[in-house]
Amino acid sequence: MIGIIGGGNMGEAFIEGFLKAGLDKNEILVCEIDEKRRKYLVEKYKIKVCNSIDILGKTQKIILVAVKPYQVKNVCEKLSNILKDDQLLISIAAGVSLKDIRNYLKTDFKNIIRIMPNLMVAVNKGILAASYYQKIDKDLLFDFKHYFSKLGYIYEVDENLLDAITAISGSGPAFISVFVESLADAGVYIGIPRNLALDFALNAILGTVSMIKEKKLHPASLKDKVTSPAGTTIEGLKVLEENNFRALIYKIILETFNKTKKVK
Ligand SMILES: NC(=O)c1ccc[n+]([C@@H]2O[C@H](COP(=O)([O-])OP(=O)(O)OC[C@H]3O[C@@H](n4cnc5c(N)ncnc54)[C@H](OP(=O)(O)O)[C@@H]3O)[C@@H](O)[C@H]2O)c1
Repeated sequence: MIGIIGGGNMGEAFIEGFLKAGLDKNEILVCEIDEKRRKYLVEKYKIKVCNSIDILGKTQKIILVAVKPYQVKNVCEKLSNILKDDQLLISIAAGVSLKDIRNYLKTDFKNIIRIMPNLMVAVNKGILAASYYQKIDKDLLFDFKHYFSKLGYIYEVDENLLDAITAISGSGPAFISVFVESLADAGVYIGIPRNLALDFALNAILGTVSMIKEKKLHPASLKDKVTSPAGTTIEGLKVLEENNFRALIYKIILETFNKTKKVK
């Protein structure tokens, strides 16, 4: 049913996410060239694996390409003469456009979806920004939404937004992880035991996000609620502004975005 080409970081996140969402392990076939990695995936997830794109391409209805961007051309060339109109090709490669994929396939195959996911698909809390050709088979589009919505939130977006989205939702978790770690380290610095400091940091972030989402608050309004006149929080906010925290975030996202545009 679902064939995943490339059982690396993201391929594994999709495997985990689908299994967690209740998909049967027999419904997943992974094609991975690295033998050690195949062995690892079989031992850990009891899924089927192969090392032939040909076999996967001829047997799976939905094909997810989860290889590095520079490897997509090679994979598409191998799939080119295999793909039939009742199959769906999904690519998660950063910076590789729908047009690039069509060019690599050298056919007029139209059932192609490009998604920009993030690693959180593994825990079914992913963000999946998706773009596709309007001529895509509508039943296959339905299948995509049916299976991939189990992994998180699907947003249908214009393709020209995908690189920008990659910087926020694809790379964002790395920046957020550094923030969580720093908050915990700072807690340790002022005397909180390590395990508690990490727990507090994580739950402060979880609670903040839940409150903003559930109460539909603007982040600034939550910040204002925590900040009393001449109080403790405003001291910290002053340091944050003095050190251009917001400008730094802009810069991080801009550099990530620029790099995404160069990767292929
Ligand atoms: N990491 C993220 O958070 C993230 C977020 C959004 C999108 N993406 C996209 O996800 C894609 C995969 O990234 P990743 O970090 O998972 O890469 P990765 O860990 O390198 O995984 C790719 C795997 O595919 C294997 N492979 C390469 N060519 C193959 C082929 N012809 N047939 C079968 N297997 C093949 C690779 O083997 P070798 O190592 O031997 O080449 C590797 O094990 C990238 O295109 C990236 O842009 C990643």
